[in-house]
Amino acid sequence: MTHSFAGKRIVVGVTGSIAAFKVAGWVSALAKEEALVDVVMTVAATKFVSPLTFGSLSGRPVYEDMFSAEQEGTISHIGLSREADCILIAPATAHTIARLAYGLADDLLSTTVLAARIPVIICPAMNVQMYGHPATARNMKILKDFGYLVIEPESGLMACGEEGSGRLPEWEKVAEYVLREISAKDLDGQRVLVTAGPTREPSDPVRFLSNRSSGKMGYALARTAFRRGAEVTLISGPTTQQPPAGVELIKVTTAMDMHQEVMARYQDKSVIVKAAAVSDFRCATQSDQKIKKDRSSLVMELEQNPDILKELGALRDHDRQLLIGFAAESSNIEEEGRKKLLGKGLDLIAVNDISSSTCGFEVDNNQITLIDSSGVKKLLHTSKIKTADLIWDHVVTNKMLKPARP
Ligand code: PMT
Repeated sequence: MTHSFAGKRIVVGVTGSIAAFKVAGWVSALAKEEALVDVVMTVAATKFVSPLTFGSLSGRPVYEDMFSAEQEGTISHIGLSREADCILIAPATAHTIARLAYGLADDLLSTTVLAARIPVIICPAMNVQMYGHPATARNMKILKDFGYLVIEPESGLMACGEEGSGRLPEWEKVAEYVLREISAKDLDGQRVLVTAGPTREPSDPVRFLSNRSSGKMGYALARTAFRRGAEVTLISGPTTQQPPAGVELIKVTTAMDMHQEVMARYQDKSVIVKAAAVSDFRCATQSDQKIKKDRSSLVMELEQNPDILKELGALRDHDRQLLIGFAAESSNIEEEGRKKLLGKGLDLIAVNDISSSTCGFEVDNNQITLIDSSGVKKLLHTSKIKTADLIWDHVVTNKMLKPARP
């Protein structure tokens, strides 16, 4: 699991669209992550999915009618938004979007939104023509001007048989935006560049030199930076990781590709984190044809790749840019870490202890030792996503961030 909603309280407003069935899955996912989900349904929504379905999945009462809710002594429209971390309206129909834009307050969902002083996230879902109508466009602009976050729908084949924009996005994407809305924005205004994964150095059309990096650690840093308010670019070697929502993803293969992309992009970044496991060497020559085994031995000449991090250490602007390196070490963690911290001109190094099979390459957990000019800090052995948050916590609490752009 790459996110955690544990203990978060989320009002999910469901309106009358066939896409309501998808949101049942979202409610289930939130409840599994131990979020408290208060589902509020419009009358039209109950025609598509029964309140019983949402109630069974959330394990909590489902709210339909403003008056019955108050009569039964359950939470009121004011209380719903006061106690929640955010309101997520999904699917949001053209009708609901119009009612919210005009500030109507004639049912529980609209009164809850009007009374809210918490983030409101809208996921429109409707027929492509309705979505493209100027009235819908105008109403969505009004909602954005209120400060609501509108997650644009996706394109594809719709339930009505037409093709185009209007489909509800996948939960994985929406979850990242919800987390960003409800997280402390302590990286707000920061432009973060993260590198992740291995590089591949080809010897012929089918073979390459590489390493065991899965990209999990670097992707976790990119995801958490986005959630904490940063604008994030991720330069990634080949991995099977899902592209993180909201993050600019640049895919590379070799160390030379990574070098080129990093050098083209680092200058306007305020934080650079090099979590990638870059091959130190590449094949001096690459065969156009598959190398045959018509010989008893094969000697391959390797040549050194540029040390991207070391170059950045010399080039970056110390007043504007924070530089964080990673290292994978199996012994003398502190000594080796310090050598790289000083040798590569870094502000902070995160050293992976790879002597244990439960951290470092490929696995979901990590145990990191942070070393900087203030000293050494051993982090908990925990998930890579939590580790990433602990690294950002360290950067924030030690006031290592450079001033954000105006
Ligand atoms: O991807 P995962 O499976 O989640 O595993 C995570 C990880 C173990 C790959 C990652 O957390 C990590 O430790 N990355 C650095 C691995 C490493 O071996 O680094 P190094 O000691 O070779 O290099 C030190 C630093 O210099 C790194 O920041 C590296 O990105 C950088 N470097 C290295 C060589 C090179 N030619 N250019 C570089 O920029």
